[in-house]
Amino acid sequence: MIETRDLEIAAQRYLPRFVFDFVSGGSGQERALRNNSDAFEQIKFIPKTLNGISSPSTSVNVLGKSYCAPFGVAPIGMLGLVRKGAETMLGRAACERNIPMILSTAATQSIEDVAKVAEENFWFQYYPTQLQSLNDSLIKRARDVGCQTLMLTVDTPVPGRRLRDVRNGLQIPPRLTLKTIGQLALRPRWAIERALAGTPELANLGPMSGEAQRSFADTMRLLSAPSMTWEDVAKLREGWHGHLIVKGLLHPDDVLHCVTLGVDGVVLSNHGGRQLDSAIAPTAMLSTCRQVAGDKMTIIVDGGVRSGDDIAKCLALGADLVLIGRPFVYAATVGEQHITGLIDLLVSELENTLSLVGVPIEQLAEVLAQNLGKPS
Ligand SMILES: Cc1cc2nc3c(=O)[nH]c(=O)nc-3n(C[C@H](O)[C@H](O)[C@H](O)COP(=O)(O)O)c2cc1C
Repeated sequence: MIETRDLEIAAQRYLPRFVFDFVSGGSGQERALRNNSDAFEQIKFIPKTLNGISSPSTSVNVLGKSYCAPFGVAPIGMLGLVRKGAETMLGRAACERNIPMILSTAATQSIEDVAKVAEENFWFQYYPTQLQSLNDSLIKRARDVGCQTLMLTVDTPVPGRRLRDVRNGLQIPPRLTLKTIGQLALRPRWAIERALAGTPELANLGPMSGEAQRSFADTMRLLSAPSMTWEDVAKLREGWHGHLIVKGLLHPDDVLHCVTLGVDGVVLSNHGGRQLDSAIAPTAMLSTCRQVAGDKMTIIVDGGVRSGDDIAKCLALGADLVLIGRPFVYAATVGEQHITGLIDLLVSELENTLSLVGVPIEQLAEVLAQNLGKPS
């Protein structure tokens, strides 16, 4: 693997079309999806020279814990669709390389199984469901496995319109139709492995997962909380004594709300371009949100990050940590050793960028073109 794109190509060769589309696709016309990557094109560095930065450190301290690199595995629902055991593979690799791994509420492996392998690097992403008893039990289970960081996702009041999934008739669990059978015939390895592994289920949503097959959008609807308000965030803040992070913000007013409520961190995110199609790229909001939040709040960002260079740009703009979604899904698809391979690749790319811009990781803002008032 020379770049993260190689993993995407390999995953596309292995996965049937409806699964690859589910992972790689966005909502609507996929404007936000494209824009997330394009936004990185506009960000430029003005390097400094002769500073002797030949073996730069990539470690960072986030929420009181030291990590080997400033990135983590983003929460991804239904990961078992790509490969059985994908969540524990990611958790193991994250623990081995010491980066955070965030398990989705919509995971296909249990909180307990993944926390066991991810150890202190385990964070839990929380979608409040429409069943209060289920919500209470999710939070209790996260607490009982020793999870220190809870990430509440708030950008799914309703599911995004993911047209590829609608066209493919994606169902959870997947259903055989003439169209999907045709796609499976072109990917026999995945089809055989899946048949042997059994149907992936939403492992943490007991009362919901056992029910009948639904379209993917209907499954998402069950995990959506259209009536959630800031009062609910305040209640969660009161009841959760670990670190609380709110994921899926873009507006500085919302970041300010989080500061006021004593939330520890935010994830600036448009859900990887899977929700509001015309959402701004999160990187475009970083500087403003950092100004609003001040230095104390942890700011995390995600969407379209595909290289160490991209990670450096996010840090230069004010992020403390970056989340990476699809590349980790592709790595888990291709095989467990590719997950540590991806982490190592991103770390070495980041080291390379730091050496070339000529400043240590905590001083990246000094070489950002826009901070120097130069045209980018
Ligand atoms: C297949 C897929 C499933 C996702 N599931 C969740 C989820 O369950 N919870 C959540 O908060 N975000 C979810 N996300 C969004 C990611 O956490 C993250 O915000 C996004 O993937 C970042 O963009 P990137 O894929 O370009 O790196 C999902 C994204 C993808 C691609």
